Amino acid sequence: MCGIVGYIGEEQAAPFLLKGLEKLEYRGYDSAGLCLNDGGKLVVKKSKGKLQELKILTNNGDTLHGTVGIGHTRWATHGEPSDVNAHPHLSESGRFAVVHNGIIENYLPLREMLTEKGIVFRSNTDTEVIAQLFEYYDQGNLMDTVIRVLSKLDGSYALGVLCRDHPDEIIAVRKESPLIIGLGEHENYIASDIPAILNKTRNIYRLENDEIAVIKRDSVQVFNLDKEPIHKELEVVDWDIAAAEKGGYEHFMFKEIMEQPKAFHDTITPHLKDGRVVLDEIHLTADQIRSFRKINILACGSAYHVGVVAKYVFEKILRIPVEADLASEFRYRDPIIDDKTLTVVISQSGETADTKEAMKEAKRRGSHVISIVNVLGSAIAKESNDVIYTLAGPEIAVATTKAYSTQLAVIYLMAIYFGDVLGKITDTEYQYYLQELQAIPEKIQQILEHKETVQYLASKLFHCNDVFFIGRNIDYALSLEGSLKLKEISYIHSEAYAAGELKHGTISLIEDGTLVIALATHEELIGKIVSNMKEVQARGAYVLCLTTEKHQELKSTSQSTLFIPSTCDMMLPSLAVVPLQLFAYYVAALKGCDIDKPRNLAKSVTVE
Ligand code: F6R
Repeated sequence: MCGIVGYIGEEQAAPFLLKGLEKLEYRGYDSAGLCLNDGGKLVVKKSKGKLQELKILTNNGDTLHGTVGIGHTRWATHGEPSDVNAHPHLSESGRFAVVHNGIIENYLPLREMLTEKGIVFRSNTDTEVIAQLFEYYDQGNLMDTVIRVLSKLDGSYALGVLCRDHPDEIIAVRKESPLIIGLGEHENYIASDIPAILNKTRNIYRLENDEIAVIKRDSVQVFNLDKEPIHKELEVVDWDIAAAEKGGYEHFMFKEIMEQPKAFHDTITPHLKDGRVVLDEIHLTADQIRSFRKINILACGSAYHVGVVAKYVFEKILRIPVEADLASEFRYRDPIIDDKTLTVVISQSGETADTKEAMKEAKRRGSHVISIVNVLGSAIAKESNDVIYTLAGPEIAVATTKAYSTQLAVIYLMAIYFGDVLGKITDTEYQYYLQELQAIPEKIQQILEHKETVQYLASKLFHCNDVFFIGRNIDYALSLEGSLKLKEISYIHSEAYAAGELKHGTISLIEDGTLVIALATHEELIGKIVSNMKEVQARGAYVLCLTTEKHQELKSTSQSTLFIPSTCDMMLPSLAVVPLQLFAYYVAALKGCDIDKPRNLAKSVTVE
């Protein structure tokens, strides 16, 4: 996720800005840059790669002069990671410099409008549009210009803006993307996140949506969009630095679980226009889509589990055979795949060696590859025919949570999009799916607001030694993820089983007190899973059942019950996975495990 830092004071700004950016490194980034007002000229230095590159470029900031400046670490969303796409971005004549966190959803029409007026863009970013708009609309009154520019932007933003003609101020604005102002002695700061300024001050103002701050060395004034001054309450931060990096949470995994409503929303929003699903990234004609006889999904670990959900979803909606393949197995089994097979590759990092090699094999055999990737410009994104990005932001915890959720979001978008092209869903179904899709972030939020219920169950059950996750149909796909989450971070042995399969061997492992987590969300099969719950209870199992709110009766067939809101069948995993992530998290926390970096695991597995 991008990071912003800014300084105005009496010292040289560059060393502070570099230090501040260092404190934001944990958020993940692929390039970094600084802009300083050096005697009435805005001087920008930026570089792809780690901050170290920028430090070398600026000799640790020594070659940049000025006591007012802004800095940025970028996590690419629009335009690949590169020097030119790194922030800050300058307007055409260099009068304005902008750093931006968030996404400008209408940047394409704005860019077209400005290009028609003869403005030449240097980068592929949405952010450069903001810098160019500042110059285009500026008529001398900076506040009027800010308000005019903001009125043109749709989307989310935290902005730090320098204007060459106003060398003694920084403008800061926010909408849906956090930004704070730090207060010092004859100096003030801006930052997207508290750690960037904690070594200087603990006194902050938090900007709210549509507030505009004018920050000078000795004053901070905040206005609303009607230019009326706003009184801000001073907040004194008492976090230690490590906690601050995690947004006040104890672990990145927890922070990332909590970020899921936003990550899901951010991923679907660019693809919803005028009541339709738009997937411009897919370069296939309707005839090509109709020509596919099979869909093949390639992925590893949790991404593979998304693939198993996708198998159920695509087969049900598209009526095309789907194989979900473990990428590490795929190319060693002489797969039957050709140009009549559509391959979908799923990877958070976009660098997983097994997945990358499997993808190459599929391409070699003539298959068209669509990848679902979180990291822009990663190897899989570059080498696939089409790529749809998840906008989860960087995931730091080794155990994936928000990337899994956003991958599911893309699967639903694809199911609706292809279902429509293939004529497999009616208009009514189309509208229903869209409505349910847009409601998912709010429903995830509701589940998160009741997280203490899961915490309580974890406190009762964390001593268990063996856990079985059982489910049928899409609940089986989900049980794979629930089981992996628990075992990888808590080190408790756990297995996922198709509930009907238990009686063919595994049920012999059930004894007094064995924990069985029964997933019972799939409406058509509730009766069947209830029978499986009874089977294991009869052999001594403790059953924790996860079901939808309307199935209150399941309280009487299980020792403990967790409820999630209802939605259409295919989207239930997006809700049901959240209590399972929380359960794994709380159990691991109670056992004192190293949650963000479980033993023997790496975030990105780049070896076979
Ligand atoms: C589990 C987990 C892993 C990854 C797998 C694939 O929590 O994170 O199982 O899902 O290693 O990684 P990506 O998605 O980067 O290809």
